[in-house]
Amino acid sequence: MNAHTPAPPAPEGLEGVVAARTVLSEVDGQAGRLIIRGRSLDDLIGQTRFEDLVSLLFEGFYEDLPADLTAALGVARSEVFAEVRHLDTDLAAQAPVEAVRALMARLADGDDLPTALRLIAAPAVFTPAVIRVQAGQAPIPPDPASPHAVDILRMLTGTPPSQTQAAGLDAYLVTVADHGLNASTFAARVVASTRAGLTSAVLAGLSALKGPLHGGAPGPVIEMLDGIGQPENARAWIEGALARGERLMGFGHRIYRVRDPRADALKGPVRALAASAGVRPGRVAFAEAVEAAALDILRTHKPDRPLDTNVEFYTALLLEALDFPPKAFTCVFAMGRVAGWLAHAREQLATGRLVRPQSVYVGPEPRQGS
Ligand code: COA
Repeated sequence: MNAHTPAPPAPEGLEGVVAARTVLSEVDGQAGRLIIRGRSLDDLIGQTRFEDLVSLLFEGFYEDLPADLTAALGVARSEVFAEVRHLDTDLAAQAPVEAVRALMARLADGDDLPTALRLIAAPAVFTPAVIRVQAGQAPIPPDPASPHAVDILRMLTGTPPSQTQAAGLDAYLVTVADHGLNASTFAARVVASTRAGLTSAVLAGLSALKGPLHGGAPGPVIEMLDGIGQPENARAWIEGALARGERLMGFGHRIYRVRDPRADALKGPVRALAASAGVRPGRVAFAEAVEAAALDILRTHKPDRPLDTNVEFYTALLLEALDFPPKAFTCVFAMGRVAGWLAHAREQLATGRLVRPQSVYVGPEPRQGS
């Protein structure tokens, strides 16, 4: 192969292609393990607040990082709340992720820590505002003195959350904050490499996250559970969906060949929430029965391809128990994953290299004389 001969095309979907070096996270698909900056997810859950995980991800990538980001994030939430006045009737009529994206697009581009903190604050502030406006309620301004997860739930419901609720959301944000070179992180890195700025990179990430094969999956998990209704209907419903060529949301993963460790990380918080007041009795047991039926049927349906539970299955139960409407689940995913996008964007920028792969032209040659 010489300089003019392109390498053979990578597989569709770039499966198995290594497109970045990162110190941020490793997804071990064979062992079912997620490492974030040298810490395993199992160690981080329940031990590390979201603010501290942001610090961990940002270390070495952002200048002037304070030891504790709680106050700085609080200030950033108050700053971005000013944009909520642009949430008019037309915007509120859109899907929550589209309304949140439109509000985020109003934020100025930049490469520094204040820009990054405003981008972390943005989905946390805009999502509760969009949900409330869609329900005919007034948005609630942030309390800059509150921890991030506490404030999100207070802006959603108007009342301070219980300790279990705040811990549940915090554990979720930590669980989804970073996950290797997933589709949205890759999109964010490509845009960052053009030096367009952090806001542009994050908007690219959010646009990729929105798809049902990525961060759009947990809402449809609730539709599946509601469609099944009773545990005894599970097998027939699932077999019917697969016979129609549909995919079961909350199952399968491009990298994991075993159970997604994030599903188990969320089980504890889901059970703690289920045990607390206000959660539909039997909901978790019902979901576990559906999960067991799905795994059993998927083993027969695709005997050569291990398909196991992914993070979205328990995400759906957790966010439902926290009173987020299913149509807004992707926005809550973005509240956590935005931290990863921002760390990856700066890591990509530090390489100084534009991401620009090649394609192989397989179309017709120009006609002679044309
Ligand atoms: N339900 C049913 N069948 C599934 C499936 C699912 N959840 N996930 C994969 N499959 C099937 C595929 O259709 C494919 O079948 P085919 O060979 O007959 O075409 C086969 O299993 C192999 O799929 P694979 O190559 O592993 O899929 P992928 O790597 O492109 O997809 C996902 C990974 C996540 C996109 C896929 O598993 C999926 O769509 N899951 C549901 C959506 C979801 O939960 N997304 C959140 C991910 S965290």
